[in-house]
Amino acid sequence: MNHIIVNGNVSKGTINKNIYGQFTEHLGRCVYEGIYVKEEDNIPNVNGIRKDVMAALKNIQVPVVRWPGGCFADTYHWKDGIGPKEQRKTIVNTNWGGVTEDNSFGTHEFMEFATQLGCDVYFSGNVGSGTVQELSDWIEYCNMGGISPMANLRRENGQDEPWNVKYWGIGNEAWGCGGNMKPEYYADETRKFSTYMRNYDNEHPIYKIASGSNGPDYNWTKTVCERAGFMIDAITFHHYTVTYEWNKKGKATGFTKDEYYRLLHNTLIMDELVQNHSNIIKQYEKNGHKIGLIVDEWGTWFDVEDGTNPGFLYQQNTIRDAVLAGINLNIFNNHCDTVVMTNIAQMINVLQAMILTEGEKMVLTPTYYVYDLFKQHMNAHQMESYVDADILNEEDELKVPRLTVSASEKDGKALVTVVNLSESEAADVDVILTGLTASAITGRGITGDMNDHNSFENPDVVKIQDVAATLTNDGHGFTATLPKNSVCSFEVTLK
Ligand code: AHR
Repeated sequence: MNHIIVNGNVSKGTINKNIYGQFTEHLGRCVYEGIYVKEEDNIPNVNGIRKDVMAALKNIQVPVVRWPGGCFADTYHWKDGIGPKEQRKTIVNTNWGGVTEDNSFGTHEFMEFATQLGCDVYFSGNVGSGTVQELSDWIEYCNMGGISPMANLRRENGQDEPWNVKYWGIGNEAWGCGGNMKPEYYADETRKFSTYMRNYDNEHPIYKIASGSNGPDYNWTKTVCERAGFMIDAITFHHYTVTYEWNKKGKATGFTKDEYYRLLHNTLIMDELVQNHSNIIKQYEKNGHKIGLIVDEWGTWFDVEDGTNPGFLYQQNTIRDAVLAGINLNIFNNHCDTVVMTNIAQMINVLQAMILTEGEKMVLTPTYYVYDLFKQHMNAHQMESYVDADILNEEDELKVPRLTVSASEKDGKALVTVVNLSESEAADVDVILTGLTASAITGRGITGDMNDHNSFENPDVVKIQDVAATLTNDGHGFTATLPKNSVCSFEVTLK
């Protein structure tokens, strides 16, 4: 028997709903076809936004979406994407496949998408090839309510009211595709850009996000926070999980048991990354000025599917991706005192996607179902939880914990999310609810063989099933059997 303790008396605070954020880039078929379709495509849509995709995203209550990149953001000039479509400039997407970008999906179209979804938006500004004036103008265009050159232009383009966009990124991967800068130089750029990123409505202040490090580059975080921390609200880092190494990413499907555990072992570094970056950031939070930590790109990155454009980063998504997503979301929940947002890469048709499309067809991935199982954690009161279980593969380099967990409480209900990392063994677990008394419980989860995935031919191979759970007589705990390779969530009604 494995044991879990959920302590209702100890908490790190509220789980920011934005931990469940998404990322969409002008990359492959993420935006075009994934979100936005043209009339001639004959795919049901509202103002160009796919109806099937919108309904699926609404179900998981996406809180915030980052756009337009990624690397694309530092080549994007937002004024190319406004005004009459036939007059919009056509550019080459030099980062992703060298395809033509006709700018038919721009600020207004993205805001239409966000309005339909009811989510917040996070715009990545262009620092690498853009100007301070350009980013400053974009904010004025989106947020100025009165009379001004940019507000007037927005009105000419059909939007009277300001959108009050809150989240603004100061570049993306400034150490790489965003300009190949040194942290000292980027810190100075951040200070300069931030100076001209103005608030136009004190009731809707903007939130400035510095481009952070490549995984464990702690010197980047330290240097940027030390020199520019007082001018930002948050700093990011990116971390993708590959099976072996960057030049040997591995396959999304058809992988071996060794590769299954290798990937999960590799992703566990996320806990250390979050902890170390948080420790550094805390040292630069002076005079009550908080700096949040954002992981605005994370997830699996595999070799592209055979026969697809290598620049489109299209990959399938298996039970292994779901287990990995569950592990990471448990980590983020358990660091909710510092992690204020994360954005899995990417929402549709790219990397670890929620949704895959092919023309008018759409399929939900195992990762999508993890977001469904975890959604009650959003804005909930986190509760500390502890696992007492063995380590799998303890003797070799691929060791991973058998179980990971996080827990929260909201509206008289506790949510306990547990991941069983074993690819072959179910796990009996008893959960002690310290300081809590339960009156009812329901369990749900996804499971399967490690390579199981949903395809357009077989869209329901992986889907949410009931998982039996039994409350103890005194209501201070429950027992359940977690299937192999599973991500389970238990909703406990509290007395
Ligand atoms: O998500 C794909 C790419 O990965 C992004 O464009 C970039 O920021 C990162 O390197």
